[in-house]
Amino acid sequence: MTGTATASVAKDNIQAPGVLMQMLTGFWVSQSICAAAKLGIADQLKEGARPVSELAKALNAHEENLYRLMRALASLGIFRETENRVFELTPLAELLRSDAPNSMRPMALMLGAENYTAWGQVARAVQFGESPFESAYGMPVYEYFGTHPESAENFNQAMTALVTNDNAAILKSYDFDRFSSIVDVGGGHGTLLTAILKRYAKPSAVLFDLPQVAESAATHFKEVGLGQRCDVQSGDFFGAVPSGGDAYILSRVLHGFSDEHSGTILKNIHAVIPSSGKLLLMEFILEPGNDPSTARTKLMDVNMMVFAPGGRDRTLEEYTQLLRNAGFELSNVIPTTSGIVILEAVKL
Ligand SMILES: C[S@@+](CC[C@H](N)C(=O)[O-])C[C@H]1O[C@@H](n2cnc3c(N)ncnc32)[C@H](O)[C@@H]1O
Repeated sequence: MTGTATASVAKDNIQAPGVLMQMLTGFWVSQSICAAAKLGIADQLKEGARPVSELAKALNAHEENLYRLMRALASLGIFRETENRVFELTPLAELLRSDAPNSMRPMALMLGAENYTAWGQVARAVQFGESPFESAYGMPVYEYFGTHPESAENFNQAMTALVTNDNAAILKSYDFDRFSSIVDVGGGHGTLLTAILKRYAKPSAVLFDLPQVAESAATHFKEVGLGQRCDVQSGDFFGAVPSGGDAYILSRVLHGFSDEHSGTILKNIHAVIPSSGKLLLMEFILEPGNDPSTARTKLMDVNMMVFAPGGRDRTLEEYTQLLRNAGFELSNVIPTTSGIVILEAVKL
């Protein structure tokens, strides 16, 4: 059972302590994987199996402790011990290679560092309503990224890899060809816009994000040959957003902010979007009830509580109200195969 698995056990079930213990020690698994990612073990095995003694030298690591970590990870299907103290990659370990397509190493680094540290303060959030990330790091997350460029670059790489599957699902479910200019507000490294522009020849696009992120996005668009079709603008979406779009995208942005802050972003879009324009929110929606199948979104909501001050995932009713308060009407709800939902809205 993973850390996110749920279990129902009978009241006096003898297995209950074991089930709870497995849940409680979920972080032993994740921290072991994060340590392997941090050390770059998978990169050292990309040419094939190697003995731990050799790996320890290459990584400048403690040989016996490296062996113990890799043995534990091998028991979980991450690495395989082909002969005594010789390890190779498994499909799971391949994903931790820095050069793997959509490598999950940046995600492991972020989860093992900033995310883990902030989660250590979750009880304070519940008791006092404090922001765990701010308690741990003394500032909100995007301010922290503004002053820690390496962590910010790693976060953006982690997001890029994470959203590839969602973006493919979004493209399958929505026709972007009807637009002539698409503005992606808080567009990150431009992964979604890249997918849209590659699929559709007609629209041009604007990516809007904080200066350090916009810079990376501009480099990315040039590298993939979309520099001419995508204008990158930097700024603060709490101040204003670029005008001129007939579609405005807010993808996985609003769940990082309080209702008040989300309202400001939405009103800034409302000020520039034409009356025939479409606003497209891409978010995971909190389902009613607490069925085990909803654990992923419910835990992601707690993660937003931990990581982003005021951040929260929302029910469909809550998004509808948030949009209405900013002068928008929800016009269409489009589910996708990955679970992410497209909420299409128009001006009231
Ligand atoms: C969770 S990421 C989502 C990125 C992208 N839309 C996606 O779906 O992968 C939130 C984005 O909002 C940007 N952002 C945060 N605060 C901002 C601000 N005040 N003004 C503009 N962009 C901001 C971040 O830099 C980041 O790229």
